Amino acid sequence: MTKRVLLAKPRGYCAGVDRAVVTVEKALETYGAPVYVRKEIVHNKHVVETLTERGAIFVDEADEVPEGALVVFSAHGVSPAVHDQAAARQLRTIDATCPLVTKVHQEAKRFARDDYDILLIGHEGHEEVEGTAGEAPEHVQLVDTAEDAANVTVRDPSKVVWLSQTTLSVDETMVRVNQLKSRFPELQNPPSDDICYATQNRQVAVKAMAPECDLVLVVGSQNSSNSKRLVEVALQAGARASYLVDYAREVDETWLDGVVTVGVTSGASVPDILVMDLLSWLADRGFADVQEVTTANEKVSFALPRELRKALKDND
Ligand code: F3S
Repeated sequence: MTKRVLLAKPRGYCAGVDRAVVTVEKALETYGAPVYVRKEIVHNKHVVETLTERGAIFVDEADEVPEGALVVFSAHGVSPAVHDQAAARQLRTIDATCPLVTKVHQEAKRFARDDYDILLIGHEGHEEVEGTAGEAPEHVQLVDTAEDAANVTVRDPSKVVWLSQTTLSVDETMVRVNQLKSRFPELQNPPSDDICYATQNRQVAVKAMAPECDLVLVVGSQNSSNSKRLVEVALQAGARASYLVDYAREVDETWLDGVVTVGVTSGASVPDILVMDLLSWLADRGFADVQEVTTANEKVSFALPRELRKALKDND
């Protein structure tokens, strides 16, 4: 049988990541280095290393940024406490939070204002859930595991809503929601999907190709939630094996033993050049026939953050 590669589309950069990366690039061009960035701008090793070479300095918290300096907040969003911390140090800020994360923040604020208990489905310790929960810490409880869903308590079961992190597995989230609904039948759904279009589309594309694949390689970093979910979705959808790699050089050649069809995709924070590198690595090993499996065409794009648009305009 001829060895082949199935290449998922959509894959790679989503509109929120593209905007966040361009934000740091433009900030460097406009203001010069260094530009501080709180947390990884997006969860991808290659992107962070490339921006570091250009003069970005990544820090964990705003209090590591010198007073008065410029700091960019990452695509994953920040809580109001982080904005306050930055204001106290008189930092100039550019907020690169993805607009679809901001949407979930707004929902959390609105339901908190109406005094709901908010069950936030997401992964403990992920920056995005820390930011969202920080909008209304008194009203939000994180539901990560099945155990959390079994044990969480609410003040009034008729006034409870679930929201979620934007980068979860759609299927697993519904398992968690159903578990919660069996305990709280009046649990309200979010006003619109919190799992974003990019996360959903990448999972649909992987599901379409995985049943035909002996192996699915996902390009992405270990701390990238949506990339890790693609490995899980590939396995659940029938791929015999699936691995997450940052670079082609991390692929173990023994993974190709007996393999005829390799599926390739990448997380929403991954530049396509890394996928192209993987394709040429595979071609060198006999997998030169590449067929794209397209399940959606994405046309979403977001305007740059307001602070930056204004600076770019003033410089014209
Ligand atoms: Fe935004 Fe979804 Fe990308 S929330 S940053 S469009 S993965």
